[in-house]
Amino acid sequence: MKPWLGANWKMHKTVREAREYVARWNSLVEESPLGEEAEVVLFPPFTALAAVGEALVGASLGAQDVYPEDQGAFTGEISPLMLAELGVRYVLVGHSERRHILGEEDAFLRRKFDALVARGFVPVLCVGETAEERRAGRTEEVLLRQLEGVLGGREAFPGTFVVAYEPVWAIGTGTPATPEDAAQAVARIRTYLHGRFGAAADGVPVVYGGSVDPENVGGFVRPGVSDGALVGSKSLEADVFYRLVRNAL
Ligand code: G3H
Repeated sequence: MKPWLGANWKMHKTVREAREYVARWNSLVEESPLGEEAEVVLFPPFTALAAVGEALVGASLGAQDVYPEDQGAFTGEISPLMLAELGVRYVLVGHSERRHILGEEDAFLRRKFDALVARGFVPVLCVGETAEERRAGRTEEVLLRQLEGVLGGREAFPGTFVVAYEPVWAIGTGTPATPEDAAQAVARIRTYLHGRFGAAADGVPVVYGGSVDPENVGGFVRPGVSDGALVGSKSLEADVFYRLVRNAL
C-alpha cells in the first residue's frame, strides 16, 4: 500500500496564508513530483478549502469536520453537500480535539461516518487513548470501544475509509509514541478490522499521528508499523511537510 500522509492544519491559516502555502507546495511538487508514490492530503480549515482546492497540485483535499445532514437548521455547521462542491475527498471523524474539547461522542461520530460514506467521501476515523487511560493499561479497551462505536454492528464493509491511531498524549507534545508502541496499536486495529470485515478491510490504511516530524516519520511509516501519518504542527510549513513526505517514501 502506498504511504498515506495527511496535513491537519487544525485552526491555523487565513485564506491569504493558505494561498501562500499552496503556491510554495505546488512549486516543490512541480520541481520534484511525488507522482503515484504517496497519497497526500491537506486538511485546511473550512474557510480556506475553496482557495486550497482551486490551486492545489499533487495532493488531495480534506476537511477537518462535517455535520451529518445535507442541510437544515444547524447554525454554524457544514454539510457533506457543501464539502463535495469544493472537491473534498477525505474528512476527519473523531479527532481527539473534537472528542475531548467539543465533547463529541461515538454515536454522533457514527452518524458523521455514515453520512460521509453515503456521499462517497473517505472518512478518516481517529482513535486513541489519553495518558490516564494508557497509565491504567486501558489502551486496547479504549481503541476497541472507539472502533466498535463507529464501525460495530455492520453487516457489510462500508466502503473506503482510513483509520488514524493518535494517542492523545502524543499530540502536539513533541513526544511521539515509540514505533514499537505504534506498531502494537496499529496491529490491534488491523486485527479488529479483519475480524469485523474480513479481507475487505485489509486495504484500509491504518496510520499513526502524534508529534510526527521529518526526522522520525521513517520510523512510523514502514511495513510492520503503519501505513502513513496524520501530521499536525509539522504540516504548517510547506517545505517542512514536503520534506516529511519525502522522508516517508
Ligand atoms: O491530526 C494531527 C494530530 O493531532 C497530530 O498533531 O503532529 O501536532 O502532534 P501533531
